[in-house]
Amino acid sequence: MNSPSSVTIIDGKAAAARVLNDVRDAVSALKEYDLHPALAVVLVGHDPASQVYVRNKVLRAEETGIRSVEHKLTVDTTEAELLDLIAGLNADPAINGILVQLPLPAHIDENRVLQAIDPLKDVDGFHSENVGGLSQGRDVLTPCTPSGCMHLLHDTLGDLNGKHAVVVGRSNIVGKPMAALLLQANCTVTVLHSRSVNARELCRQADIVVAAVGRPRMLDASWLKPGSVVIDVGINRIDEGGKTRLVGDVDFDSALSVVSAITPVPGGVGPMTIALLMKNTVSATQLQQPALSTHSTRAEAPCLSIS
Ligand code: GUN
Repeated sequence: MNSPSSVTIIDGKAAAARVLNDVRDAVSALKEYDLHPALAVVLVGHDPASQVYVRNKVLRAEETGIRSVEHKLTVDTTEAELLDLIAGLNADPAINGILVQLPLPAHIDENRVLQAIDPLKDVDGFHSENVGGLSQGRDVLTPCTPSGCMHLLHDTLGDLNGKHAVVVGRSNIVGKPMAALLLQANCTVTVLHSRSVNARELCRQADIVVAAVGRPRMLDASWLKPGSVVIDVGINRIDEGGKTRLVGDVDFDSALSVVSAITPVPGGVGPMTIALLMKNTVSATQLQQPALSTHSTRAEAPCLSIS
């Protein structure tokens, strides 16, 4: 049993501000080479949560000097029209990053749309070229939420070598890429999902828990090992006492009695996702200019790097 005062509440806002500062510096440096990073954000329909996410993405882009171009399409937009828009953005040299906000309306095939994005402009890291590259350990554009979680884990624990990490949830957006990133950082990784047997007992063996199931407060103290570090990806809207509030997939108050560090909701992973999107837009701009890329082997090439 902990005294709650000994628990670190991981400050995602402060960590995101540090990433955004690095992004701002990198954007300024790119502008000296007449490169002006630009992000296209595509929203189909009027899902209220998606509208908020898109507005925040556009705001963060402006704050870091990244040009943003919004494409707001009506809910009855056809798949062919959306694919046409993406083809135009792929071909436009003034656009470096393309983000199509998910979920898409049911009549549009999400996978076909994600596969249509040029992998070098795929700032979400959802194209199979980037998914495959991540699982092979290549230096590719990686999904923003899991990358943000990795930043928070490195900030909190430093080296992750040999830690047992449990990822709860196996979505393409968070669970699977999270497991790949943890494996790349030399963790022993377990992925739990709706068909897992003895999920709670397995989770209780973890040094690191990443909760990404989308079920409010599903993991309480009984799921957690004393001293573990918990990253809560869940953002669930619940009604409590006639008021709407946001809670994570972890029962925060219960977890405080056992963990050594935990992200709050809101103010934990959420701000990191958007910060990493900006970082990916800078990385995409560099990848599209081999002479500026950190991957370049040309000795004379200037190399702009953000951590
Ligand atoms: N919807 C929820 N999370 C995400 C995300 O990371 N990227 C996109 N494009 N849509 C989302």
